[in-house]
Amino acid sequence: MKKIIPLILLLLYSGCDDSSTNIDDKVIPSSNVSYSQHIQPIFNVKCVNCHGVGTTEAGLDLTTWSGTKADPRIVVDSLPENSVLVWTIEVPARAGFPQMPPIDAPYLPLTPNQLRGVKTWIAEGAKNN
Ligand code: HEC
Repeated sequence: MKKIIPLILLLLYSGCDDSSTNIDDKVIPSSNVSYSQHIQPIFNVKCVNCHGVGTTEAGLDLTTWSGTKADPRIVVDSLPENSVLVWTIEVPARAGFPQMPPIDAPYLPLTPNQLRGVKTWIAEGAKNN
């Protein structure tokens, strides 16, 4: 029994350790996308170091829902195809708009699932959910 306890603790620890879960492995559902559960975690890994933590490039703060929604051009409720945020994270970005995250940044582009997730969140009303 004495030998089993450390093993159980190790298993519990590795099961709870969030840092071992890569954001790109977290699958976003095709509907009922949640800002707090699915979208903010992507921004936290791939965007906030330039948008809200330490520096706020282009005046865009992506650390909170209200920051993300502050400029009505960036996220147009229900219309992902009209939202500047979508134009920048598509690969390639829309002509005249910067590629986000920048190609030279140490952050990977959004996966197809994440891109679809962001579009779905906006299509569903860009709610603070
Ligand atoms: C390494 C720093 C860096 C990272 C990481 C980064 N950005 Fe940016 N972002 C910038 C800079 C710098 C600009 C202004 C560039 C320009 O205007 O050419 C910008 C501009 C933008 C704009 C355009 C704002 C406007 O008013 O036109 C959007 C939208 C944007 N970023 C979204 C994002 C998103 C979403 C992410 C994460 C997926 C991200 N950025 C990650 C540096 C960064």
